[in-house]
Amino acid sequence: MLNKISGFADYLQKYQESIADPEKFWAQIAEANYWHKKWDQVVEWRFDGPKAPDVKWFLNAKLNITENIFERNMFLRKDQTALIWEPNDPAEKEIKLTYGELFDKVKQFANALLNLGVKKGDRVAIYLPMVPELAIAMMACARIGAIHSIIFAGFSSTALSDRIVDASAKVLITSDGGFRGNKIIPLKEIADEALKKSPSVEHAVVLKRTGKEITMTTGRDVWWHDVIKGMSTENKAEVMDAEDTLFILYTSGSTGKPKGVVHSQAGYMVYSEYTFKNVFQYSEGDMYWCTADIGWVTGHSYIIYGPLLAGATSIMFEGIPTFPDAGRFWDIVDKYKVNQIYTAPTAIRALMAQGDEWVESHDLSSLKVLGTVGEPINEEAWHWYHDMVGKGRCPIVDTWWQTETGGMLISPLAGITPTKPTMATLPLPGIQPILVDQEGNEIQGNAVQGILCIKYPWPGMLRTTWGDHDRCYQTYFSTFKGLYLTGDGAKRDEEGYYRIIGRIDDVINVSGHRIGTAEVEDAINEHPKVVESAVVGYPHPIKGSGIYAYVITESLSDEEQKNIEAEIRDTVNKLIGSIAKPDIIQLVSGLPKTRSGKIMRRILRKIGEGDATNLGDISTLLDPDVVEDIISGAKVEVKR
Ligand code: WT7
Repeated sequence: MLNKISGFADYLQKYQESIADPEKFWAQIAEANYWHKKWDQVVEWRFDGPKAPDVKWFLNAKLNITENIFERNMFLRKDQTALIWEPNDPAEKEIKLTYGELFDKVKQFANALLNLGVKKGDRVAIYLPMVPELAIAMMACARIGAIHSIIFAGFSSTALSDRIVDASAKVLITSDGGFRGNKIIPLKEIADEALKKSPSVEHAVVLKRTGKEITMTTGRDVWWHDVIKGMSTENKAEVMDAEDTLFILYTSGSTGKPKGVVHSQAGYMVYSEYTFKNVFQYSEGDMYWCTADIGWVTGHSYIIYGPLLAGATSIMFEGIPTFPDAGRFWDIVDKYKVNQIYTAPTAIRALMAQGDEWVESHDLSSLKVLGTVGEPINEEAWHWYHDMVGKGRCPIVDTWWQTETGGMLISPLAGITPTKPTMATLPLPGIQPILVDQEGNEIQGNAVQGILCIKYPWPGMLRTTWGDHDRCYQTYFSTFKGLYLTGDGAKRDEEGYYRIIGRIDDVINVSGHRIGTAEVEDAINEHPKVVESAVVGYPHPIKGSGIYAYVITESLSDEEQKNIEAEIRDTVNKLIGSIAKPDIIQLVSGLPKTRSGKIMRRILRKIGEGDATNLGDISTLLDPDVVEDIISGAKVEVKR
């Protein structure tokens, strides 16, 4: 397979080459793609200075990413399965689409979008469950040069409309509902609420999935099956510039509303394909399964774009790990003889807690590679994954990356990079990590710890944040001049291996999903009885971090007192979605604030961790007594 690293010595050599001459390195990789016109220059970049960041890859090249998935693969793979869809309910039949069949569906839906008036550069919001049409819709957008913005189907109507409005999407693609375990999510109902506040949307395309009755608004809403009726499967791809936007994906940070991370065409394409092939060491004929939802970046890059660019067979799963029982993942591995599985520590821990029988009763001998992503994997989960799931035979690739990075940055190459439990190991070719201290000074040498930054661009990185370029600079490039700030802390061990420790900002990683504390606080504060709140993460055995909310309310009647917690959760559910619901709510009379009014979250975090032995200096607090009150009312056991 082209551009595939073959061994550790080869990796070390490629890494050196990629650092010594990045332009030559990436040009060589990109040669394997199909271009209407090749680049005039490989990279031009500036992380600082006027209008920074200014990052361009493959300047003036012309391409379409779907031609690289389909036309380029057609000769070899027309009849090879591209996508396997495994339904939520195992009694329903799976769907297998060959490259040829998927191509026709993408072209047909592309024509339907054109027919609805969608043009190059228009934004299309997609709010769908994990069904094949989600894959078809995103690639149809890419085919015609429309920018897709996929919104995870677990988000609430407010979260959905915020994202639609921010991107002023012209079309929304949704469904009558979605199946998740034994629940039905009423997506159209939620979308209808959102559309009341989304004036830019001209049409909603509605897929029939659950068959539940819904309301269709005449003139605005159209059925998926109607819009594709009579549509041709002939479609010429729109020719895109390398730096045109491919998609927007919203993600949370420590302040403000979620921001739309913008990824561009060529760099993302080259990077997602390259990292997919190399990290998983994908070989011709392998069965590859990433368990993520396409609503997150993992699904974008490693269910759809990376694997399909590489000509792989990619499985997409509609359901959840524990439905109908805790053996579901292993059923799927066995059913399709999966070779590479890519999942999250939270899923591993949840399944580990269900007992070994679920794993032992399945034949998992097809597995060759075990992938993990989303949060630091703890020692116990790593060993269980390695020994119980992989029977000690399969390398674990602990892949560190972010929505903003477009693809993996620090990860072992399966079977090539010697692994160590809990370590993301070494940077991929082209990636130049650096650890810095609080002042931004580089921490050199090994056996050190610091703030993880990246000092040189890579093709898959974000280019801006939608509609607010300065926010991109402020968030990622202003803290340490000339560096991309990841927001993570990391250790580098004696051998130069990286271990990601976790976020250094006010972002909580809940089950591998990024939740901004400010966003949750804003939602809680919307409750009419809430005066103020402070949210922190605390160690949670399955989720990694849980959400702990300290809340000050107005005085409450007994009745109100009884309902307040449920109401607060409900408020958060309505404003963001169930993933952001606090696990613990503690009503407090005050919050630990400095004299300048800043909440000292460090103290709240410590209490949430159950450790009040070392709270540090609290003498600068406006009212040090609140700390004692909070500790005595804490909902976790606190060591003093
Ligand atoms: C944050 C990014 C990348 C897709 C899923 C999450 C954490 C991600 C790892 C890992 C330790 C990890 C980081 C990062 N993270 N992968 N292998 N080891 N931490 O994407 O929502 O953009 O979150 O997830 O804290 O900054 P995301």
